[in-house]
Order: sequence, then C-alpha cells, then structure tokens
Amino acid sequence: MDSEWRAHMAQNAEQLIETVKQARVIPVIIMDDVDQARPAAEALVAGGLNVLEVTLRTPNALKVIEEMAKVDGAVLGSGTVRSAEHMRQSAGAGCQFMVSPGATPKLLEAAEDMTIPLLPGIGSPTEAMIAAERGYTFLKFFPAEAMGGTKVLKAFQSPLPELVFCPTGGVSASNAMDYLSLSNVVCVGGSWVLPADALESRDFNRIEALAREANLLGL
Ligand code: 3PG
Repeated sequence: MDSEWRAHMAQNAEQLIETVKQARVIPVIIMDDVDQARPAAEALVAGGLNVLEVTLRTPNALKVIEEMAKVDGAVLGSGTVRSAEHMRQSAGAGCQFMVSPGATPKLLEAAEDMTIPLLPGIGSPTEAMIAAERGYTFLKFFPAEAMGGTKVLKAFQSPLPELVFCPTGGVSASNAMDYLSLSNVVCVGGSWVLPADALESRDFNRIEALAREANLLGL
C-alpha cells in the first residue's frame, strides 16, 4: 500500500471488513414504523443476514436502529450519513458502523473523531483516491448499477489494487453474485430483501426467505 495512504488510520478497514463480512449481503433498510423494526430484524437475522444498514432517511430511523439492535446477533449500521450530527446520532443509537453515499472532505474529517468506522461512498477513481489519501481503503461504490456496475469495479482492480468495495444501488438477487465474485468486492448492499409490500403486509416469513436466498449468494 502507498505510504501516504497508510499514514492515516481514519478507517480501521480490517475491523470494518471483519464486521460486514459476517454476511456478504447487507440489507439497506428504509423504515419509519418502529413496530416493524424488531420482527423485520429477527426475520433478516434468521435468514442469515445479521449485518443491517438502516438509512437515516425517516423521522424514526434512530428508534428503528435502537429496536433492531436489541435482536440477538444483529449488527447495526446507519446509512445515508451526511454530517457530523448524523455520526453522533448513529453512535448514540448503538450503531457499530456508518455508511455514506458520498465522501466529502468534511465528512471524512468528522469520521476521524468517531470510534465507530465509516464506509464512505465513491463513484469514480478520483473520489476513491481522495478517500484513500485520508486513510479509507474500504469504500461503498454508489450508485453501483447506474455508475457502470461490475465493469467499473473490474476496471478499478488494476490501477487501484489497495481498495476494496461494497457496491450498493441497483444491486439485486439477479446481479449480486456477479459483484460478489469480484476480488475487490467485500460485500454488497441492497434493499431488495425488504420489499415495501412485504413490510406493509407484515409478511416477515417472506423477508426471511428473501434473506436466506440472499445469504446463499454471499457464501
Ligand atoms: C440506497 O441508497 O437506497 C441503497 O443504496 C439501496 O439501493 P437499492 O434500493 O437500489 O438497493
């Protein structure tokens, strides 16, 4: 690894990789109904997906995180983290990691004051290199499909060999395996395991079945 990239220890990439690797598919959860939190997390964990990202996009997202964190085996992360305030809230709610769609200098700096690690989002080599210069070597590739998908990640392998990715955005049961088979992909994230209609009808058996299928893709 380039010495400049190694100089900063902003992100303990090894620790974060160890955390998310427990299941190589991370459900990306957009939820406002706190009553759905426990049974949904129980279904996902029962299906083998225990690393959960709850996006900070709903008024009750932090309460959802707190509820899900009570489920045995669940490892909670916050998503859509865009400010230092979001980071403080994430730590307070019991998150073990944070995910951002982007990687602004301000955000990366703020993450250095946190004890829980950040997975910052990038969409291009320059963005990836800026994050790497600050010590971030495990990055979210977002929005994966819209940015060119597996083709782009394959193209990153030779010029950016130190970097590994979690592609998210447009990843589904039909293409997750293509991503997971790449050597620079640690895990994938996606909302497909929690369809809105399944949540609405409280069909947690279906969510468990989808989680089980998704988990098999990552094994
Ligand atoms: C998001 O930001 O909503 C996540 O990346 C999930 O994207 P998806 O809904 O396409 O899986």
